[in-house]
Amino acid sequence: MLIAAAVGVLGVVTAVIVPTMPAGAAASTLGAAAAQSGRYFGTAISAGRLGDSQYTTIAGREFNMVTAENEMKIDATEPNRGQFNFTSGDRVYNWAVQNGKRVRGHTLAWHGQQPGWMQSLSGGSLRQAMIDHINGVMGHYKGKIYAWDVVNEAYADSGGGRRDSNLQRTGNDWIEVAFRTARNADPNAKLCYNDYNIDNWTWAKTQGVYNMVKDFKARGVPIDCVGLQSHFNSGSPYNSNYRTTISSFAALGVDVQITELDIQGASPQTYAAVVNDCLAVARCAGITVWGVRDQDSWRSGDTPLLFSGGNKKPAYDAVLNALNSASPDPDPTPTPTPTPTPTPTPVPDGCAATITTTNSWQGGFQSTVTVQAGGAAISAWTVRWTWPGGQSISSLWNGQQSVSGSSVTVRNAAYNGSIAAGGSTTFGFTANGTAATPTATCTSP
Ligand code: G3I
Repeated sequence: MLIAAAVGVLGVVTAVIVPTMPAGAAASTLGAAAAQSGRYFGTAISAGRLGDSQYTTIAGREFNMVTAENEMKIDATEPNRGQFNFTSGDRVYNWAVQNGKRVRGHTLAWHGQQPGWMQSLSGGSLRQAMIDHINGVMGHYKGKIYAWDVVNEAYADSGGGRRDSNLQRTGNDWIEVAFRTARNADPNAKLCYNDYNIDNWTWAKTQGVYNMVKDFKARGVPIDCVGLQSHFNSGSPYNSNYRTTISSFAALGVDVQITELDIQGASPQTYAAVVNDCLAVARCAGITVWGVRDQDSWRSGDTPLLFSGGNKKPAYDAVLNALNSASPDPDPTPTPTPTPTPTPTPVPDGCAATITTTNSWQGGFQSTVTVQAGGAAISAWTVRWTWPGGQSISSLWNGQQSVSGSSVTVRNAAYNGSIAAGGSTTFGFTANGTAATPTATCTSP
């Protein structure tokens, strides 16, 4: 009787527990919860806040993707023409990777936050400066960035057409030139078009961007993703057709990334709706919120984020619960780590250099030069070659050139002279003339 009773009790207990056991334990952080369905959950990080331990504790624990809020923008990375500065960008990048996070790059071609020298350019010289900027920044971070916002905010707020800007006035093809340049500069990065107020499917701006992406896909212009910034507020509120927007872009054959999410007032219901809309579309790759705590937001008065001081807000719980309710990733293979580009055969010591043509056109071409250290680390390098047929460099990035007749000498820039044993770096150039790949020599002191 006792045994039967015990079995009966156990039977009841078993019957109660088994059906309520979740398929897997719920994750306790946003990044881990998003990873269960193969997605990421990121935040914008500001270099100036990395000394704030409450900020870094929350950001380090919760997120697995990082966007530099301002530090990789044009004014930060190329304050003077041809002089790149990656000090702040690298601070954000290094903090992210040292804490196990991937990095989105933001942003390469934009009418905003242009340094003064770029604001004053126009026409062909602005077009060349844009190309040089993309090559310089993407060259520095080559193989290290999950996705770049190649072009940001190029559409007008109403009407569905392009925004007027100095870049737009260089010619309507500026966006596709930016994407083609970006693909050559880092073939392993996903290339995104990023904009605000393209969340509501019925808005003309959304349709304008949709038609551009459709056209790019039809013509083979390289584009991999669309970034929906998703700054929601009373003037641009969340609408339930957001899911249609996400699935419509995805159906064009691009990923969708929610890149700068914040919601005025941080309604838990609206945050959950946004997350559920992303989870409903397989190609919605992940979500980034535009800051950690309300006090870090560009719109702090709107209290639009998931943390207040060190505390999780109700919106945080809503997001975590929604992520934990997602169906598991049907194909949980980890996102591949970018494969480094092939480098020359190592030399016993010193360095080696190889020139590769990455693009060519009537009367000109673009090349990448890979500089590889041999069996020992080097702290500086010099690459030399001779042009075979009157070629001339029109623009060079990530190095310092001096030219004497057909002889070219390129020394490392201030930030890329040091290469670990067996490691490599690249510089690049555009040149006039017929594409050529002369043999280059490399020396290191
Ligand atoms: O760091 C200086 C400080 O030294 C100076 O005293 C102060 C005086 O104004 O300015 C500070 O720089 C500010 C910077 O943010 C850092 O806080 C700039 O003025 C300010 O313009 C800049 O605003 C940034 C804004 O982009 C500029 O366009 C915001 O932080 C940043 O969140 C925001 O991000 C954009 C995305 O890139 C694109 N999508 C929209 C989004 C929100 O506007």
